[in-house]
Amino acid sequence: MELHNVIDRQNLQAFHPFTRLRSLLDNIPAGPAPRGASAPLALSIGEPKGQPPAFVAEEIAANAGEWSRYPPGRGSTVYLEACTAWLQRRYEIPAGIIDPQRHVLALPGTREGLFFATMATVPQTAETPDAPPPVVLIPNPFYHVYAGAAVAAGAEPVFLPTSSETGFLPDYQAVPEEILKRTALCILCSPSNPQGAAANRRQLADLLTLARKHDFVVAFDECYAEIYTRTPPAGALDVVDQLGGSLDNLLVFHSLSKRSNAAGLRCGFAAGNEKLINALNAIMLVGGAGVPLPVMAAGTRLWRDDTHVEAIRAFYQANFEIAQQVLGNRFGFSIPDGGFFLWLDVGDGEAAAKRLWQEAGIRVLPGAYMSVADNEGYNPGAKYIRIALVFDAEVTKAALGRIAEIL
Ligand SMILES: Cc1ncc(COP(=O)(O)O)c(C=O)c1O
Repeated sequence: MELHNVIDRQNLQAFHPFTRLRSLLDNIPAGPAPRGASAPLALSIGEPKGQPPAFVAEEIAANAGEWSRYPPGRGSTVYLEACTAWLQRRYEIPAGIIDPQRHVLALPGTREGLFFATMATVPQTAETPDAPPPVVLIPNPFYHVYAGAAVAAGAEPVFLPTSSETGFLPDYQAVPEEILKRTALCILCSPSNPQGAAANRRQLADLLTLARKHDFVVAFDECYAEIYTRTPPAGALDVVDQLGGSLDNLLVFHSLSKRSNAAGLRCGFAAGNEKLINALNAIMLVGGAGVPLPVMAAGTRLWRDDTHVEAIRAFYQANFEIAQQVLGNRFGFSIPDGGFFLWLDVGDGEAAAKRLWQEAGIRVLPGAYMSVADNEGYNPGAKYIRIALVFDAEVTKAALGRIAEIL
């Protein structure tokens, strides 16, 4: 599809979902908020409202002597080991496949990691002067950073439609050969934002097999890996064993933002193929901030601890139960595999967002602001609104009750 009229490298901000939401709502007065909630009520932003464990502040204070030091390139040894130990607990990875020093890289978050991974994997020199640009495959709808990074890297983002019929995941087998040949990078979010759909092992293995056949990299955005509703969703590292034990073509991205209610800590990591990790590290050393030592000390404790994560997961599970009680199966709702968003089919997402704001002071994100139209003008997000279930049970219940009344 024609993309550069949608996403302009000189004006990435215009394409940002929240910039678009501000233009939609800023001149409209907010209606009275639901009982018990403060107005306006921002259900548009996927930012945790709970706090990380108290030991985060303790670790940062205990390591305050390290603020004068630059963050070490790849991350501290203990941090990389804690990330690796968590991967080994969370996924079925044969022993010895992941060496913390060679296959893991500390990052401020998945956002920075995905942005710089795009810079590192999209080739900057064309084989011939008139060759079409390299392709980045992106699910549609998508987290805006994927497309922004692709355009910033000089690639052509190719958006793969997802819908309730495709289980809200892209059908990679349907991508034309001509596109696969040009593909440098494919980004898959699982569990996905906005729909909360998780790929199963077969889908993950099929994608990696395709990537190896056509020699492109797959960046798996697994930042919602710990926020699941029933069983722990599979991750790309779960299928490495069945694919011959190699990490070729594979990068996974994780962070503490959702897992530990620590979005402001800026602490995460990437793991995967050694050459790809080295390339990512090289570009992070040029333009990245690194992760400060006191932050990594706190992060080390967070990755070592699963107890606080159980409470955070239970918080979102309880909110999904409330959504089920209030909404039943209206708006195509059913409890998703993971994440903390409702993705509701309301017919016209923009019109619904306006009404909820006008009548109830509730801010939700029109699905169309997370997606683009195809060549025929069909936008797979247009019917939807995205609602972040980040507030406590009382506010969630009152807000969803009002939303159901109004829509
Ligand atoms: C799908 C997805 N990927 C990545 C991020 C970035 O998260 P962080 O950089 O805090 O890990 C977010 C944050 O909202 C997200 O929803």
